[in-house]
Amino acid sequence: MLVRSLWLFSTLCVVAAKVTVYGQIPLGQTRTPDAPEAGATGTPAPPPLLAAYDETILKPPALPQPAPPTDFTLNLPANGANVQDLSIVHHMGAFFGFSIEMSVITQIIGKNSSHIQVPFLNLMANLQQRAGHINIRLGGNTQDFAHMVDHIDNGHSLDKDHSDPSNPTFTPGVTYTVDLFYMMANISSLVNVKWYLGIPFIDTKDWKLQIAEYGQTILGDNLLGLQAGNEPDYYSAPGHDHRPTNYTEMDYYGEFHDLVTAMDANSNIPVKNMLIGPSLASGPWMPEKVLVDTPYLESFADKLYAITMENYPSNNCFVRFKVGSYVDPQETFHEFLTHNAGLNLVRKYRNTSNLARQLGKPFIMFETNSATCGGLPGISDSFGAALWALDYGFTMAATNFSGALLHIGGQNVYYNPFTAPPTNQTAFNQWTVGSIFYSTLIMAEAFGKSNTSQIVDTTGDREFTPSYSIYENGALARVALFNYNDDPTGAYAIKPKITIDGGKVPLQVKVKYFDATSVSVKTNLTWANQTFGNKFEVDGRLKGDLNIVTVDCDQATNVCAIPVKAPGFALVFFTEPTSTTEDAPSVTFETSAYTKAINTITVDPEVLETSNGISGKERAKMGSTSFGSVNAAEGFGKLVPGIYVLVAMISGAGVVLAALIR
Ligand SMILES: *[C@@H]1O[C@H](CO)[C@@H](O)[C@H](O)[C@H]1NC(C)=O
Ligand SMILES: *[C@@H]1O[C@H](CO)[C@@H](O)[C@H](O)[C@H]1NC(C)=O
Ligand SMILES: *[C@@H]1O[C@H](CO)[C@@H](O)[C@H](O)[C@H]1NC(C)=O
Ligand SMILES: *[C@@H]1O[C@H](CO)[C@@H](O)[C@H](O)[C@H]1NC(C)=O
Ligand SMILES: *[C@@H]1O[C@H](CO)[C@@H](O)[C@H](O)[C@H]1NC(C)=O
Ligand SMILES: *[C@@H]1O[C@H](CO)[C@@H](O)[C@H](O)[C@H]1NC(C)=O
Ligand SMILES: *[C@@H]1O[C@H](CO)[C@@H](O)[C@H](O)[C@H]1NC(C)=O
Ligand SMILES: *[C@@H]1O[C@H](CO)[C@@H](O)[C@H](O)[C@H]1NC(C)=O
Ligand SMILES: *[C@@H]1O[C@H](CO)[C@@H](O)[C@H](O)[C@H]1NC(C)=O
Repeated sequence: MLVRSLWLFSTLCVVAAKVTVYGQIPLGQTRTPDAPEAGATGTPAPPPLLAAYDETILKPPALPQPAPPTDFTLNLPANGANVQDLSIVHHMGAFFGFSIEMSVITQIIGKNSSHIQVPFLNLMANLQQRAGHINIRLGGNTQDFAHMVDHIDNGHSLDKDHSDPSNPTFTPGVTYTVDLFYMMANISSLVNVKWYLGIPFIDTKDWKLQIAEYGQTILGDNLLGLQAGNEPDYYSAPGHDHRPTNYTEMDYYGEFHDLVTAMDANSNIPVKNMLIGPSLASGPWMPEKVLVDTPYLESFADKLYAITMENYPSNNCFVRFKVGSYVDPQETFHEFLTHNAGLNLVRKYRNTSNLARQLGKPFIMFETNSATCGGLPGISDSFGAALWALDYGFTMAATNFSGALLHIGGQNVYYNPFTAPPTNQTAFNQWTVGSIFYSTLIMAEAFGKSNTSQIVDTTGDREFTPSYSIYENGALARVALFNYNDDPTGAYAIKPKITIDGGKVPLQVKVKYFDATSVSVKTNLTWANQTFGNKFEVDGRLKGDLNIVTVDCDQATNVCAIPVKAPGFALVFFTEPTSTTEDAPSVTFETSAYTKAINTITVDPEVLETSNGISGKERAKMGSTSFGSVNAAEGFGKLVPGIYVLVAMISGAGVVLAALIR
């Protein structure tokens, strides 16, 4: 009810529509109908089980025997100055950003600068409220084959490249128009997204620099950097074949040098020092092979925005492409459900992170996820994967990575943080959020937006119950507690005792739990009792009643004992829980759906009622100040049968904001 009244209140404050965004996904539908509407032709066929919606449920790994201690003590210094190994200060917005394969931009981000996916905007708004801004890379294997064209049919700003037979990689090349940059700029004006793009690195004699020229000109400060080479250590590998097999680190160094020369000579590229590299997959070439054994750092330090690596802990390449050997998801699951998973991943980067810090450059895991070649069924979208990603993120942050980008592919991968429905289902299905999107949300909340957060790993040898402390402005602010064990009997639930060294525990602490019934499940995940919804139910907003648990502490013994279920995760707040109301995006994404009956399952009356705070009928009388919803709606009423159109109006305050307050 509170949501509802705040919703109404804030939408009544709407001043005037500034921007109109048309999306293709109907947000009006949040549940299946009791009865089909008149004229509807029955319920839709069940969706095909593409990887992104796979229903494989694995068995949870065996429990460690005997049960590890459940009531261990964490003695935490009150003052960060007394903490050994405290990390750098984190100030790059949401620690987890996203790496979006260029071939899926249309599905995930939008068709063009005036057709932007509203669920995407809503998902980003959640992160913006917690972390200030979000970093997104448009790139991946496709970036090396992307090129700009003058025109693409049917109002698209991107298309698959149908012409380039020289691309043997697993992902198709793409063409794009200048409108791609306007779409990105428009997104940044709605939610605080900063961008990374990549310069094609295939033709190093005749550089295609439009992405740098238009990117800088149109995006301005919202463009953070330009990647120069994507996993160059794989350029000569079988299946990639972009370079002869004798391609070396020095060759890459030489090509980077040629690129710098070309950019320096190009007057349409005003900013010369935003390059990103070397983005090694760290398979064939370990980081030092480029950073230390070639003159890369000394030559290019002035040109680099950030030092980057790309890595995945596992792969599904045998199943997908008959490359390598078979990875059995059930046998592999336990490798994700331990603190060692993250530690093993970052180990090879400890020296690199020091080099980056000495140069004063951000050090970014530029592309990562649970398993390359599309992820692993049963693992990549499980609650277990969300715990893994969260632990891995905290470990990266504690090892002085500045940020990490989770990769997003199409419908045919298991690991997406979020996925749009297949195009032929956009009329009746909503989006799907992968379990790891919750990890990005929780990371954002753990670090907040003060730009002063530092983290330390306090796990010691508790492999299955890791913990971290987060300091803000030098003071203990939050504690993260994990329990990887999966035990419905409750015997493996933990209740760590937090004591404060050089201070006293407060009378009470607030705790937010990340919860699901098992590490194996993919449904009913909740963060502080709220959920984005199960597959095909997501409009990008959290649903349900927020529940922040209050735990009483014992000041006499200086102990706060915090229960954490098996499995589970808790974020303990020694300061007030991060407000998600302040610094909210200055825009909101109101939605209402209009359609012909054929694809109409239902129009959620609540959404219609609350869109713009008034009913659809009243809204039609409102006149031109909200032309976005009125005129557009009238126009769309006449659309071809079967096309479902969403009208989203952006205004000074409103629906999303209100929904996010809780
Ligand atoms: C991270 O950087 C801090 C300095 O800000 C340093 O004290 C710490 O040792 C570094 N940690 C690692 C793992 O390199
Ligand atoms: C975006 O696509 C729609 C049609 O789907 C078209 O009406 C509109 O003009 C396009 N916008 C741009 C900027 O091309
Ligand atoms: C949004 O895109 C349109 C092109 O469709 C462009 O004219 C406009 O300048 C863009 N707005 C922003 C804020 O970039
Ligand atoms: C690497 O291989 C290419 C093509 O096979 C050849 O032209 C080139 O001379 C070789 N480079 C070196 C340094 O051997
Ligand atoms: C890191 O640097 C140390 C000292 O130079 C060296 O002994 C170690 O092998 C390096 N580690 C890696 C993973 O390269
Ligand atoms: C959507 O397209 C896929 C692939 O072409 C097909 O298998 C599926 O049946 C279609 N679904 C609907 C509801 O039309
Ligand atoms: C944090 O840094 C961002 C720029 O990265 C800046 O826009 C924001 O205002 C800073 N926040 C605070 C609280 O200083
Ligand atoms: C998810 O929650 C719903 C509603 O509480 C319940 O009906 C359903 O059985 C749950 N699903 C699982 C897999 O726990
Ligand atoms: C959790 O959310 C559900 C659904 O929104 C609600 O019914 C329930 O009361 C909430 N639980 C708590 C403890 O707030």
